[in-house]
Amino acid sequence: MTFKDRVFSGIQPSGDLHLGNYLGAIKRFVPLQESHDCIYCVVDMHAITVFQDPKKLHKSTLEVAAAYLAAGIDPKKSIIFNQSQVAEHAELAWVFNCVARMGWMSRMTQFKDKAGKNAEKASLGLFAYPALMAADILLYKATHVPVGDDQKQHLELTRDIAAKFNNDFGVEFFPITEPLIAGEAARIMSLRDGGKKMSSSDPSELSRISLTDDADKIAKKIKKAKSDPEPLPSEIAGLEGRAEAKNLVGIFAALSGRSKSDILSEFGGQGFGVFKPALAELAVAKLAPMNKEMARYLDDPKQIEDILRDGAERASVIAKETMKEVRDIIGFVK
Ligand code: TYM
Repeated sequence: MTFKDRVFSGIQPSGDLHLGNYLGAIKRFVPLQESHDCIYCVVDMHAITVFQDPKKLHKSTLEVAAAYLAAGIDPKKSIIFNQSQVAEHAELAWVFNCVARMGWMSRMTQFKDKAGKNAEKASLGLFAYPALMAADILLYKATHVPVGDDQKQHLELTRDIAAKFNNDFGVEFFPITEPLIAGEAARIMSLRDGGKKMSSSDPSELSRISLTDDADKIAKKIKKAKSDPEPLPSEIAGLEGRAEAKNLVGIFAALSGRSKSDILSEFGGQGFGVFKPALAELAVAKLAPMNKEMARYLDDPKQIEDILRDGAERASVIAKETMKEVRDIIGFVK
């Protein structure tokens, strides 16, 4: 069976959006609108797997939507909505809780990272989270999912769930989704530690560039970014074993749309005293317009809420159709 090409992706409204979210996800969502039907979700139900202050959740939801809009996602062409407005996400997630095996879920590294040593105290939702993510994607029978590298294992699980559902019920109902994982931007690392990914949960603000940072903050964070005393190499191979240098060159490449080797042919032999100011200038030039647009949207929350409501109505039409068929396949009495 062939499935209509459709893109789905989501971002959690659980804190500051950062450069990793932008380069690994949001920036890549925009051009896909030219070639695919796209659905971009603010996954608020994922966010509450760890406690969220209600006011902050509301604010962060609008911020993620504003970032989608500011980056250039067209709410007429694509669907932008927040997950909790389409109840079928939760309904299909339950079905997938019954399809996914405990062994599969227990292998999810993100749960282990997030729950840490205190897994007994983690919410059941945090453990079940990847089944909800599979439901997000498969509710719309999405064929392609643009994400950063950290979501790879969840997408493999989504494929396993789709295949098991199809196999258990003898149908070809769900597509086997393809992940679209970015090259240079797939894993942006912390500015303080090249061995850790950039994340909104890092206690150090200096570890990440937030999309709401102004020019001064961006420049300061890049200046303070961890590096090393060696000049940059002229070839990519020379970045091996230099995690922080590799990360900063990767960020330069992703922001400028050039390859790492191109960047190194320009900066090879130069120290960070030259490279960092050039990176700061580039980051400010690329992020300032986005920052301004986000602020403009956030000035009118009602407009964002209207866009999310309209998106949710359009998403619901597809979601209801899928769930109707899922109920039939399972044998639920109507
Ligand atoms: P989330 O909210 O943690 O991150 C949103 C997107 O940003 C990417 N990302 C990064 N990319 C590069 N470098 C980084 N340091 C970095 N940090 C984050 C993530 O890979 C992601 O693409 N489970 C998902 C949200 C989700 C989802 C979905 C995604 C829920 N349902 C369905 C796709 C399809 C998450 O927590 O992403």
